[in-house]
Amino acid sequence: MDLSHIFKIVLLVCLCVLSYSLPVQTAVTLSVPVAPIVVRGVEVIPSKTGGCTNVTVAFTAMSKVQIVWTIDKGIKPEDVNPSTMIHNHLTKHGDSHTSICLPSGLVYDKLVLHLLCEMHSFELHLDMRIPKATIEVREPLEQYDLIVPKPNEIGVTSRGEARFPVMVNNSATGYAFGLLQAEVTLLYGNYIRYDSAFSFLPASPNQIISAQQVGVNGKENLFNIALKSNILRKGEAFIAIMAASSNPNSIVERLDIKQGILLRRGNDKNSGFNNALHFPEGQSEVITIKKHNNAIMVCETVGDTNPSVTLYKRTLGGIEPVNVPSYTTSLPPETVTTFQLLNVTEADSGVYICKVAKNQRSSSKVFTVNVVTS
Ligand SMILES: *[C@@H]1O[C@H](CO)[C@@H](O)[C@H](O)[C@H]1NC(C)=O
Ligand SMILES: *[C@@H]1O[C@H](CO)[C@@H](O)[C@H](O)[C@H]1NC(C)=O
Ligand SMILES: *[C@@H]1O[C@H](CO)[C@@H](O)[C@H](O)[C@H]1NC(C)=O
Repeated sequence: MDLSHIFKIVLLVCLCVLSYSLPVQTAVTLSVPVAPIVVRGVEVIPSKTGGCTNVTVAFTAMSKVQIVWTIDKGIKPEDVNPSTMIHNHLTKHGDSHTSICLPSGLVYDKLVLHLLCEMHSFELHLDMRIPKATIEVREPLEQYDLIVPKPNEIGVTSRGEARFPVMVNNSATGYAFGLLQAEVTLLYGNYIRYDSAFSFLPASPNQIISAQQVGVNGKENLFNIALKSNILRKGEAFIAIMAASSNPNSIVERLDIKQGILLRRGNDKNSGFNNALHFPEGQSEVITIKKHNNAIMVCETVGDTNPSVTLYKRTLGGIEPVNVPSYTTSLPPETVTTFQLLNVTEADSGVYICKVAKNQRSSSKVFTVNVVTS
């Protein structure tokens, strides 16, 4: 064994010891990034003639943004009431706005705007409570910061460990911190493992990811994220950090920000998401729903991006494709397709299969829908 070899080993041991003993905050510094999407304001203009209520959200985007409006648990308003109009004014980047015209007869509890920026693996969800009164509302929005380190600033030890800080900074906004969720999808060849952790739950020993709140300074909330898996030594990890904050005094009651980080060792240009499709939330679900309500089937996959997604229903003769309203949002390597069964009747009961396919590989999730009369 030559000297340089010994030196490398000593260095490695030192680095390992250092990474174990140093507080995480000093290992990675957090600098405030410019968020890929920043919301600026919300405006509600009720119709004077009893037509529709116009809701507009203004935002600034760094690149192309996908816009999806939903009501309640994920139904597209225009599928419930076709006279609902949506105006999306998209520019490649810069100031944009999106508006929706809610007909006065539309029944819903919550209006949600989803803004996704695929290029920066960033998404925002705005939960809105729209006043039914005839007054106009114009409210500036102050988006809080979710600060995560850049992937190249996060080291992975030879034991497959990575640790980094995350900050949720609600200072200068009316938002109060709610919760932090950290999700990890480990990808290595056909091996996929999904795990998640919450800021308010203690980590269990066999968990591969943990999220621990380590400090609060006014409205700055600091967390440590720790990952540990042998797979990290050779594979890659997609870590999604989601922060939820609420403001009871705003129309935008809750604002969720999600930021994805792709962690890989070295710079293997040929890696990337070339992995078998996988359903992190499980491959079967039972949905029990009252007659005349709306059922949603959420088909969430991780792995190959832009898979084809088809819904089938089991019949006496086998399976048949069904054509129901649906929409897809994508934050690589996640693809979420939401199918809607509107105003269900007993005839909608049955077994549905969501089939996702890409590159000769496919996988399925089974939904058992039971429509009950009361
Ligand atoms: C709603 O408001 C936006 C922004 O002011 C406007 O561009 C849009 O045309 C309005 N829609 C309707 C139906 O009035
Ligand atoms: C948190 O936000 C406040 C107000 O914008 C700012 O002054 C402060 O520097 C931020 N803290 C960090 C650690 O970025
Ligand atoms: C649901 O369908 C029934 C007929 O099956 C119809 O009378 C009712 O108006 C529909 N409800 C909605 C909200 O569309």
